[in-house]
Amino acid sequence: MNHFLTINDISQAQILELIALGKQLKKDYQPHSQALAGKSIVTLFEKPSLRTRVSFDIGINKLGGHSLYLDQQNGALGERESVKDFALNLSRWCDGIVARVFSHRSLEQLAEYATVPVVNSLSDLYHPCQGMADFMTLSEHHHDLSKVALGYVGDGNNVTHSLMIAAAKLGAKMVVVCPPGCFPDGAVVQQCQQLAKQHGGELLLSNEVSALEGVDCLYADTWVSMGDDTPLAQVKQKFMPYQINQQLLDQTGATSVLHCQPAHREYEISSEVMDGPQSLIFDQAENRMHIQNAILLTLLKD
Ligand code: CP
Ligand code: NVA
Repeated sequence: MNHFLTINDISQAQILELIALGKQLKKDYQPHSQALAGKSIVTLFEKPSLRTRVSFDIGINKLGGHSLYLDQQNGALGERESVKDFALNLSRWCDGIVARVFSHRSLEQLAEYATVPVVNSLSDLYHPCQGMADFMTLSEHHHDLSKVALGYVGDGNNVTHSLMIAAAKLGAKMVVVCPPGCFPDGAVVQQCQQLAKQHGGELLLSNEVSALEGVDCLYADTWVSMGDDTPLAQVKQKFMPYQINQQLLDQTGATSVLHCQPAHREYEISSEVMDGPQSLIFDQAENRMHIQNAILLTLLKD
């Protein structure tokens, strides 16, 4: 692993190794408490964040490293100077770059020119740290990931893409249910269907929530992603039949619920379910830190 831009870049074995390391870290940081001593990681955000910013910062600290937060007060990435020059400069000072960007292309350019590892902490196309944390969380509750059936419901987006890639590589079943016109990217779907076939998994897409019957876990994300200024109220009518609520939980028989957050309670998920016994949502948020630390340890170990 040189960079971590998408779960596409890693094999099934590497996904499982990272999850195992994430679980080990969760139990005990002591053996790794100086692993990043003397190392500095720049965390760059073009978009807002709570979970990602805090979990990287505190996570890096737990490994003995130092993190430096850069926001966009000096203008968007590539505006004041080229992404290439940005990458070349940063590489002279820091040991790794974590970046949340509007365009996935910016990450590819950072990775092309940086001489230090680059980690994707969300782009328009993928959210791989999220997908890894989600499968770590699923593995804590459903154990054999190849036997898990994950039901994603809502808007087909960056998070959906990373989940589909991870599910396909792990040989899991994934059902993606979206309103008409909101399916995930066609090229990513095709690639995941291919990957699923290769690994003994399955990827199904539908506009009907009835397709979710029998899944183990229901997963929601926001109906409007960062960068899209459409008010939630405007899409409410279209998405409301796709809300995760007690009725959908009962109808599907799912035994766990995930949401990457930030959540809009009573929109994509009811408060009753978010705070209910099937919700793994705050474990999932905690696991962001452990899996990201596993990723950083793996990238920076030499
Ligand atoms: N899930 C997630 O990435 O949350 P933040 O946008 O708060 O970082
Ligand atoms: N799909 C959401 C994920 C937020 C963590 C977004 O891109 O805003």
